[in-house]
Amino acid sequence: MASPPSSARPARIVVLVSGSGTNLQALLDAIAADPDGFGARIVAVGADRDDITGLERATRAGLPTFVCKVTDYGSRAEWDAALAEAVSAYEPDLVVSAGFMKIVGQEFLARFGGRTVNTHPALLPSFPGAHGVRDALAYGAKVTGCTVHFVDDGVDTGPIIAQGVVEVRDEDDEAALHERIKEVERTLLVEVVGRLARDGYRIEGRKVHVGE
Ligand code: GRF
Repeated sequence: MASPPSSARPARIVVLVSGSGTNLQALLDAIAADPDGFGARIVAVGADRDDITGLERATRAGLPTFVCKVTDYGSRAEWDAALAEAVSAYEPDLVVSAGFMKIVGQEFLARFGGRTVNTHPALLPSFPGAHGVRDALAYGAKVTGCTVHFVDDGVDTGPIIAQGVVEVRDEDDEAALHERIKEVERTLLVEVVGRLARDGYRIEGRKVHVGE
């Protein structure tokens, strides 16, 4: 699969969030620090719920926002189609799921498969799902970390773009470990999104080639 970005104009990015939005903020800050050089701009921020700091961050940055709540639709498939429609209104080159805690479905992937990036707080394929930090800790892993990957139709199973490693400390609880993972995760996500946008990419099976 060939990449859409890497042309003269900056790549258009829609970011999806469900919570505090510190990964979104890291992207906003990196783009603001180098608007011409970063190679991408965020054109909208979507969420699956109201009243989250992630949406406040977007509004503060002057970005349009939209909310697609599962409970507003008759079925999961209808929600998925509505989300795909809301995202496509902003004509993104890349969609970034930055702490978006919903699994997208067929309609969304039909439109945005191969250009939707997710960040997960564990070293995939270990500890997929909603409790990656808790599960790594409970398992007794000595290292964990974060994974930035393309989204496919599984739960955190898509082709891996980059990973960052974080050591687990004896005194860690879930919150402390997640906080250290998020520090690494924010840097990694900014670096990956910038490279995808500036250098382009190809997905061949499970391998992602950036800038080749
Ligand atoms: C991140 O660790 C992400 O991987 C996980 O939830 C966290 C979101 O953090 N799914 P934030 O909302 O970007 O602060």
